[in-house]
Amino acid sequence: MKKNQVYLNGQIVPADQANISIFDRGLLYGDGVFESLRTYNQKVFQLEDHLKRVLRSAKYIRINGLPSIGKLKSAVLKTLAANNFKETYIKIVISRGIALEHGLATNKVKGKPNIFIIAAEQKPYPQTVFTNGWKAIISSITRANTPSSRIKSLCYLDNILARIEAKKNAANEAFLLDDKGNVIEGTISNIFVVKHGGIFTSPENSPIVLGLTRKLVIKLAKQSAFNVTEKNLTPKEIYTADECFISFSGAGVVPITRIWKKRVGNGKPGHITSALIRLYDDETKKL
Ligand SMILES: Cc1ncc(COP(=O)(O)O)c(C=O)c1O
Repeated sequence: MKKNQVYLNGQIVPADQANISIFDRGLLYGDGVFESLRTYNQKVFQLEDHLKRVLRSAKYIRINGLPSIGKLKSAVLKTLAANNFKETYIKIVISRGIALEHGLATNKVKGKPNIFIIAAEQKPYPQTVFTNGWKAIISSITRANTPSSRIKSLCYLDNILARIEAKKNAANEAFLLDDKGNVIEGTISNIFVVKHGGIFTSPENSPIVLGLTRKLVIKLAKQSAFNVTEKNLTPKEIYTADECFISFSGAGVVPITRIWKKRVGNGKPGHITSALIRLYDDETKKL
């Protein structure tokens, strides 16, 4: 069987031969950014938007020596072509590079950022995810209102701790609160609720990753004449919603049908959620 091939600083190499230094700042300090993408019909979904976001995030944390969007795109496509999966999960990682000295100072870095692209098989999500939905909990972890909360940084510890809580409670996702007690997003997803036919999601100024799926879902909902309002969501609004769903690049739209032990609505994916799943699915087929 052919081994996974990955991209590392300009080269395609077998995954088990792709090594970086223990002085990499991404490893030492979480000093870097990442992006998760996937293919549908063997074509990368929303590729340009993902590339723009990862480069914007890297610029935001002032990583120097970044590649152009064209160069990064060609690296992604080369990585994809070097593998042979039915569908592919792709992870782009940009770390500031190799630390020359101890300490946080960002000018003591050797050469260019470390850039690597991982490809792995993207297994289809079981259909039951979309027909039965997932269980979520509300995490005890509060999301700090900091710049790094808004980017896909290499420091995802709060999200990881929240995921551990979710797993302990046999849940698939954990919702995080902000410092004012609003439910703002999941560990890998954005949150939506439906109440009296209207769709609500946390506003852009909350400390969330502004998901590309969130953006597409809002666009698709508006095109179908659904009312979408961006507003802070209280735990009570989540518990008493008629429908709840999350959005993320891996699966698109996933219904949340239970929060802790409480059913959302009648415990089945609601009709607006199901309509959005279909609309999103149609988009993925347009590639
Ligand atoms: C914290 C967080 N929020 C939201 C999202 C959803 O983003 P996207 O729709 O671009 O995948 C992600 C995706 O990984 C995430 O990590």
